[in-house]
Amino acid sequence: FAGVGGPVGQGEAQAAAAIATAPVTVLYGSETGNSARLAERFAARLRVDGLTVRVSDMNDYKLRQLKDEHFLFIITSTHGEGDPPQSALNFFEFVEGRKAPRLPGLQYGVLALGDSTYEKYCEAGRRIDRRLEELGATRVGARIDCDVDFEEPSEAWMDTVQPFLATQQQHKASHSPVLSVVSSPSAASAPIVDRRNPFNAPVIDNLVLTGRGSSKETRHVEFSLAGSNLVYEPGDALGLLPANGIDVVDAILAQTGLDGEAAVSLKRGEVSLAQALAFDFEIMAAAPRFLEAWARLSGAAELRRLTSPENSAERNAFLRRHHVIDIVRAFPVPGVSAMDFLAGLRPMQPRLYSIASSLAAAPDEAHLTVATVRYALNGEMRCGVASGHTIAGAGPDAVLPVYVQSNPHFRLPADDVPIVMIGAGTGVAPFRAFLQEREARGATGQSWLFFGERNFRSDFLYQLEWQEHLRSGLLARMDVAFSRDQAGKVYVQDKLTEKAADLFAWLEAGAHLYVCGDAAHMAPDVHAALLSIIQTQGRLGPDAAEDYLRTLQRDHRYQRDVY
Ligand code: 2AM
Repeated sequence: FAGVGGPVGQGEAQAAAAIATAPVTVLYGSETGNSARLAERFAARLRVDGLTVRVSDMNDYKLRQLKDEHFLFIITSTHGEGDPPQSALNFFEFVEGRKAPRLPGLQYGVLALGDSTYEKYCEAGRRIDRRLEELGATRVGARIDCDVDFEEPSEAWMDTVQPFLATQQQHKASHSPVLSVVSSPSAASAPIVDRRNPFNAPVIDNLVLTGRGSSKETRHVEFSLAGSNLVYEPGDALGLLPANGIDVVDAILAQTGLDGEAAVSLKRGEVSLAQALAFDFEIMAAAPRFLEAWARLSGAAELRRLTSPENSAERNAFLRRHHVIDIVRAFPVPGVSAMDFLAGLRPMQPRLYSIASSLAAAPDEAHLTVATVRYALNGEMRCGVASGHTIAGAGPDAVLPVYVQSNPHFRLPADDVPIVMIGAGTGVAPFRAFLQEREARGATGQSWLFFGERNFRSDFLYQLEWQEHLRSGLLARMDVAFSRDQAGKVYVQDKLTEKAADLFAWLEAGAHLYVCGDAAHMAPDVHAALLSIIQTQGRLGPDAAEDYLRTLQRDHRYQRDVY
C-alpha cells in the first residue's frame, strides 16, 4: 500500500474498504424531485467522509436486499392524503406487509417531507419510521418532519446523522488492520458546492435576446464554471443566490431610521445591517409573518385586522399590493430596532433557472435564459430580485454565487429515442441544452420542438440556432405559436392539436414528451390538449386517454419542468 495516491494503491485501498465497511444505502421516494435531491446531497456529504453510499429511488430498489442492509436512510415525501409517492408504493407495500423481514441488525433514519397545510402531514415518513422500529431496527437520530421550507431542517437532520455514521465507520476501520491506509478519499476531497456554499461564477456574457419593440426583456446570460468542479446534465437547473437592490435597501433604511452601519449577528457571522438587508433577507414582497410582526410593532388597527385568519383573502390581496417598503411607509414605527425589523423577514431564497446549455457544447459554462421581471407598484418601478436587481445589472466583471440543482425528473432518453419538446417563453431554455447535447453525442433519435412566445419579430428566442438545427437535421420539425401576432391567441397547445395525427404517431413510436414553462396556465392547458389528442387519435375514451398519459408519466416518457 505504499503507493496510495497512485492509481494502483487507490484501487486496492478502495477494495479493502468495500470488504471491511458496510455501505450506507439511501432510498428516496420522490414526487417532485425534492427527496431525490436531498438523497443525493446526503450521499455526497457521506462520501466526503469516505463512506461507500448507494442512492436509489425506492422504485428501483431490490427488495430482497433489505434484510442484508446495515445502514439504511429513507427520505420520502408524502403525497395527497398521507400517501407515499407513486414511485414508493411497492417499497411501502413490502415493508408494511406480513412478509417483511425482521431487521434487528439494521440502523436506520428517516427524513420526512410534507406540507403542513395538509392534515396527514409527513405521514409517509412517519409510517416507515414506525414500521422499521417494529421490525427491530435501531433508529439513528430522530426523524425530522420538514414543511415546504425543507432546506434548514433537512440540513439539521444530516448534521446529526452524518457524524454518527462517520464514527461508526472509523470504529470498524480501527478494528480492521488493512483499513488504516484509507485515511481520506482522494477524489471526493473537493468542497461540495451547494446553496450553502455557492461558487462565485463570473458572468462572461449577458445580452438581451428580445428585439426592439418587444413587450418583454429576455436575456441570455453565460456563466463560467471554470475551477468550480461543478458539473450538470441537460435538464438541470442553476441555483442563483440573488442580492437586493441598493435602492431598496436604502429606502428601507431611510424610512425606518435604522443605521445601515450597525452590526447585526447572523448565523454566518457579524455583518452590517445594510449587508444583511442586501444579501440575507427577502425585502421586496412581505411574508404574512412580516405583517404580523409589523401589526404588533405599529399597533395599527388595519394591520391587526388583516392578520386575523378570517381575513386571509383580503390579506393576500393587500400583500400583493404592499411590499415591505410600502408597509413601513404606510405604518411608521419610530425607533424600531434592527432585530425587531429583521425578525419578520424571510431568509433570502435561491432562484432556480433551467440551464440552457450542455457541457458537451460549452465546457465549463452554464447558460441561462432569463425574463426580466419589471412592473409598476404604488407609483414606482419595481423589479425582480434575481432577474432584475441581480442579473439585468450584471456587467462584464460581475461574479454571482451559483450552484447546480440536479433535476432527475427532466432527462433526455437514449440517443435513438425520438423526443417532442414543448416550451413557452423562457421554458425553451432546457431544450437548447437538449439539442446541444444531442448534437454533441451524434444522437440519431428525431427531435421536434414546439415554441410559443408573444411576437415573431421581437420574441423568437434563439431563432438562428433553431434554424441552423433545422438545416442540419438535428431538429426534425419545429412549430411556433406567436400569441400576439393576430387577432386571436395562438398557443403551443393549438399547434399540438393542429399536428395531432403526427404527434400521436410519434408517441406510438416511443417518443418522449417534455413540457417546460409556466405552471399555472400553460402546463395544465397543454396537458388537457394532449388528453384530447390521445382520445381522438387513439380512439380512446376519457379514462383510457388518462391511463395512456399516466403510463407515459410512469415510464418517464412525459416529463415536466414547470414553474
Ligand atoms: P400571451 O402572453 O400572449 O397570452 C410565453 O409567455 C408565451 O406563452 C406567450 O406567447 C404567452 O401568450 C403564452 N401563454 C400564455 N398563457 C398560455 C397558456 N395558458 N397556454 C399556453 N401558452 C400561454
